[in-house]
Amino acid sequence: MPQNKSHDQFLSIVVIGASGDLAVKKIFPALFALFCRKLLPESFVCYGYARTELNDEAFRMLLMGSLSCRYTPGESECRSLMDAFLSRCHYVSGGYDDPLGLLRLKSVMESQEQHDLPVTRLFYLSVPPFLFLPTAQSLKEAGMAEEIPEKQKLRVVVEKPFGRDRQSSDALTRDLRHVFTEEQSYRIDHYLGKEVVQNLMALRFANLIFEPIWNRNNIHYIRFCWSEDIGTEGRAGYFDHYGIIRDVMQNHLLQMLALITMEEPLSLEPEQVRNEKVKALRAVQPVRFEDMVIGQYTEANYKGQVQKGYLQETGVPADSITPTYGAAILKLRNRRWDGVPFLLSAGKGLNTRRTGIHIEFRHVPGNIFTANSSPVPNSLRIRVQPDAGVSLNIMTKVPGLRMSLEKTELDLSYASAFKEEIPDAYESLLLDVIQGDKSLFIRADELEAAWDIFTPVLHDLEGCAIKPQPYPFGSAGPDSAGALAALYNAEWA
Ligand code: BG6
Repeated sequence: MPQNKSHDQFLSIVVIGASGDLAVKKIFPALFALFCRKLLPESFVCYGYARTELNDEAFRMLLMGSLSCRYTPGESECRSLMDAFLSRCHYVSGGYDDPLGLLRLKSVMESQEQHDLPVTRLFYLSVPPFLFLPTAQSLKEAGMAEEIPEKQKLRVVVEKPFGRDRQSSDALTRDLRHVFTEEQSYRIDHYLGKEVVQNLMALRFANLIFEPIWNRNNIHYIRFCWSEDIGTEGRAGYFDHYGIIRDVMQNHLLQMLALITMEEPLSLEPEQVRNEKVKALRAVQPVRFEDMVIGQYTEANYKGQVQKGYLQETGVPADSITPTYGAAILKLRNRRWDGVPFLLSAGKGLNTRRTGIHIEFRHVPGNIFTANSSPVPNSLRIRVQPDAGVSLNIMTKVPGLRMSLEKTELDLSYASAFKEEIPDAYESLLLDVIQGDKSLFIRADELEAAWDIFTPVLHDLEGCAIKPQPYPFGSAGPDSAGALAALYNAEWA
């Protein structure tokens, strides 16, 4: 287990928007997990800041409900760790564009920070995107966004969506730079913190056998599928403004695509890794209108219950044309990938919750077994969730007196191969922010490249007010997605 040896710094972690779901269910539990594993510095304090009126006691009660002792079983030890952690959590209430509220927070922080130690102030802006800028500006006005050489370092964490298209994303990046430098900024895509996603580089570059076949000569197509069998779960207001392309495809799916398609970096040094990801994303051609299918779920019976259609969800306008499903074919223009279709699909209200990557290899040329069997191409499947794992389909002779082949599976399941607990993505990412490691965070040019892939098709769809195709809740999505894949001789499952 990595140990944090930083006893020589004071860490102030400030979560702005601390009473919201992300903070309560993900950020504070992740900080607590790091605390239990002794990965936070000796001297740290957490501050919650939000509009809701709470005192420290009520805030701690709110957080306690979501903390769990995954790494330290044992009831009494767990209880004392929770008490120790929560005693370091404080709360100040105030508005996000209210420098006075932030001044109150600042004075609480200054009274607790140890002035004989260099301080790192980490601001997590866990607020809706339209508040990123006003919050950052208020932090500046309250004098909280200053670095003091040798004495005070700053880090700011923001989480997608960053803008709605290339232009608005550029404007946000530019405006936020008036407060925080690129060096101080950590843009989170929580999929990069997932264990199996972090393994993609290891799978490709720490094994000899995959790289020689990882190209257009051997790969027929690659598929990235993301599905949920739930609706917008109370987030309709947010979701309706963004839709599935911006919510999942432009970020989570493209990040996985970058890791699968990039060239080997010179080293694991963060800028080397990010340089290669940017190059890969820049090779992706903007998605063509005809290579995209969008859908929207409708009311249906699923698992014995009537599930509302998207348009019936509270907060969704009755005539909304926001897609809850998207399927797209992407192409890269470079020597390694020219001609290989990349299939991306993401949808809510589908028939399963699953994220995975499927690499379909080509047929064996001149296969000598076709006379007595029906060989199928090899495929490599990476299960991001649930049931994290990697499996390889190979053709095998069925035991017996005849030469007959069958498709079989070599399966690595994390649950049986490792006894270690799989950390939550936020644990990994927050530890990296604390340690100043930026490999898993999105650099500004990476964000630009990702927006360039989807901005034209988003403008086309929205400019022409294209209606998404209806699909019943709990189904596999609109039928036309199958027809799109068939154009490329590929399948979704
Ligand atoms: C978020 C999206 O980024 O990821 C949500 O905004 C989605 O719409 C969520 O539900 C899924 O995350 P995970 O980690 O549960 O797959």
